[in-house]
Amino acid sequence: MGCIVVTIDGPAASGKTSVSRGLAQKLGWKWVSTGAFYRGLGYMAQQTQVDIKNEDELVALVKSDNWSVQMNDENTNFIFNDQDVTEFIFQEEVGTLASQVSGYPKVREALLEAQRALASEDYNLVAEGRDCGSVVFPTAPLKVYLTARSESRAQRRAEEQGKDLESTIEAQKQRDQQDASRKAAPMQVPEGAHVIDTSELTLDQVVQKVEDLVQKHIN
Ligand code: DC
Repeated sequence: MGCIVVTIDGPAASGKTSVSRGLAQKLGWKWVSTGAFYRGLGYMAQQTQVDIKNEDELVALVKSDNWSVQMNDENTNFIFNDQDVTEFIFQEEVGTLASQVSGYPKVREALLEAQRALASEDYNLVAEGRDCGSVVFPTAPLKVYLTARSESRAQRRAEEQGKDLESTIEAQKQRDQQDASRKAAPMQVPEGAHVIDTSELTLDQVVQKVEDLVQKHIN
């Protein structure tokens, strides 16, 4: 048997974090934003002055036991040296570092076990990221891929972070390009995924659409 995992993937600011969190809250399921693993690693590298281009040193950081990821209803928390550093890892600058470290196959491989360990027989899980449906949980019974026009995505991100639209569009373009063109687990629509364009939809509407899919495919 095992627990039910629903995966929600998509590009930056497609709404996947808010949607997956909202869905998990509605269903009373656990929720993880797997970007926290890559963001946390980018943050640790920055703090410990590990060269962001040195794959082996990044892997050594992953294998160190001074970090952990904790799931809760509102956030995916990152703990480093016994300190909760969640508020720092979600800054845009750390997002860029996360995107860079996520391009290394050995880094992805090293993080995989910890990501999969979040699924348990004891609860159902909504997992959000770039490769949750394709690599982390390939046997998930329901896979969703959210997309949105790049202007809508940048607008959302700029509003969330109080940044100007133009620099947000530029940063987002670079990150999308990096995430989609990397050799290891490039961002892609997983086979069999339901694609939802969120450009013209409110958060509640998207959550409702995914919940309808859950009812249809799982219950
Ligand atoms: O979803 P996010 O913005 O928190 O992700 C930050 C970066 O982490 C993203 O640019 C690429 C990487 N990432 C990944 O490669 N695979 C995932 N499953 C989640 C995130």
